Order: sequence, then C-alpha cells, then structure tokens
Amino acid sequence: MNTTDWVLVTGAAHRLGREFALAFATAGWNVLCHYRASQAGALQTQADVRALGAECLLVQADLAQPEAGTQLLAQCVDLAGQAPRCIVNNASIFEADDARTASAPALLRHFLTNTATPLLLANALHAWLCAQGRPATGAYSVVHVLDQKVHNLNPDYFSYTVSKLALERSVALQAQALAPQVRVCGLSPGLIYLSGPQTQDNFDQAAQVNLLRRPIAPADVARCALFIASNPSLNGCTLQADNGQHLVPLERDVMFAIADNPRP
Ligand SMILES: NC(=O)c1ccc[n+]([C@@H]2O[C@H](COP(=O)([O-])OP(=O)(O)OC[C@H]3O[C@@H](n4cnc5c(N)ncnc54)[C@H](OP(=O)(O)O)[C@@H]3O)[C@@H](O)[C@H]2O)c1
Repeated sequence: MNTTDWVLVTGAAHRLGREFALAFATAGWNVLCHYRASQAGALQTQADVRALGAECLLVQADLAQPEAGTQLLAQCVDLAGQAPRCIVNNASIFEADDARTASAPALLRHFLTNTATPLLLANALHAWLCAQGRPATGAYSVVHVLDQKVHNLNPDYFSYTVSKLALERSVALQAQALAPQVRVCGLSPGLIYLSGPQTQDNFDQAAQVNLLRRPIAPADVARCALFIASNPSLNGCTLQADNGQHLVPLERDVMFAIADNPRP
C-alpha cells in the first residue's frame, strides 16, 4: 500500500464508521472522515486516527442532497490533492416502518441517502479516474455497506431494507459498469449496535441471535472493508460479516421478534 493512499469513510464520526476509519489508519491509510452533523465525534475520530500515525481530514456533507456524491468527491480531491483509493459508503439512515406503513417521503429519504448517493459517489470516482486518464490497476475500490437483512428478509424497517436491497443488487451492476477503473463490493454486517427505540436488554438478547450466539465485533466488520480495499482480485462480491445471522431467519426484525417473545 502506498503511504499516501486515502480512504473516504462516510458517517465516520461514530460507531461503525469510526471503526472503518481506525481499521484503515491502523494499516497505514490516511482518512477522509465524512460527517453530517456530528462535528465533535468527527474531531474525536480525527484525533484517534492521528494517534495511530495517519493523517485524517474532515469533510462535511448532507448526503440526502441529489448532488452530494459529485460534490463530496470534489471536496475530497481538493482536500487530499487526489481522489480516495477507497470509498466506504457507511453513512445511512435507519427509520422504523414496515411494508404496510411505508410512505413515499420515507422511501425517498432512505433511497437518497442509502442508495442514490453511495452509487453516485462511486460513479464520481470512476469519472475522476477516467478524466485523469489513470491506468486501471485494480487499486481503486468502493465498499457499499449493506446489512444482513438483505440476505434474510422480513417486512420490518421496510424503507431501509428496500434502500439496502437496491444497493446490494447494484453491486454487480456497478462492478460491471465501472470496470476496469473501479472495483465495487458489498459488505453486509449483522446487528452490531443498539439503534432507534431498542432497549439495552433487547439489544443484549438480539446480539446473540446468530449462528455463533455471541455479539459481532465491530472491528472484525471494519477489517472486511480493508480486506476488500487491499485485495485487487475482489470485485462484484459481497462479504457477510455477521456471525451467520443471515442464516437465522425470523418473521420480524430481531428487535421486534425479541420484544414479541420476551425471555421468561
Ligand atoms: N448498527 C448496526 O447494528 C448495523 C447492522 C447492519 C448494518 N449496518 C449498516 O452499517 C452502517 C453503519 O451503521 P451505524 O449504526 O454505525 O450507522 P449510524 O450510527 O446509524 O449512522 C452513521 C452516520 O450516518 C450519517 N448520516 C445519516 N444521514 C446522513 C445524511 N443525510 N448525510 C450525511 N450523513 C448522514 C450520520 O452522520 P452524522 O452523525 O454526522 O449526522 C451518522 O453518524 C450503515 O450503513 C448501516 O446500514 C448497521
């Protein structure tokens, strides 16, 4: 790996985005840490990355805007003096609804942030490389962060699930379309963090609902993105980092499945 290589991680102020930033920094990559509202968290990620000896620059953007993908790539090129070698499309929204209660605004909101902008950000990287006339080496990659839910369907969190399904189906299409300049892969984590209305007790139970019956380590998930970025033979595939959660089918989202069947 070239020590001047940059990774752009969207939504890197907290949680899994921060883990991605630290995993890449540990391997010697510099980090473009994107955030929307969490400036304090982004500053903390920056300090933590720098403590690992890598550079970290902050970039702020609302990814729900139609032009966000091209604008964010341009911001990154301005800041780093080059396009990132890897983009980890991590930022997303996760709002509760189901197949019956989904609304047009919720579907569109999820689609813009979780699907359209990640895809257009990948396209912007491809366009930049083509404009530069760079030879294709397999070095540039995009990792679309998905969810085990897309491999293990139920009708809860419908707008979110549909947005991630569209992104998951797009992995192969973009891999075909952006080759040979950019590799495109997916990464599907299982349940890692307490989200939305979930209680700590519910989360603690839900985190055991996978084949290994133990919580998924965020750092293990993050290292999968680094593996994709570092391995030029991977293209058009999706890694599932979920302790086998996708092989445990449930009729409802695990949070509601547990709430519906509390332990005695
Ligand atoms: N959490 C889990 O257990 C889990 C399970 C499976 C898959 N995943 C996937 O893993 C990824 C990370 O999950 P997470 O729970 O760590 O994420 P998260 O905390 O819910 O959100 C990550 C970041 O997304 C950013 N974001 C949301 N809307 C945005 C917008 N319009 N523009 C720009 N940034 C926006 C927010 O940035 P600011 O705070 O700066 O506003 C937020 O900090 C997601 O893609 C998620 O779908 C998570």
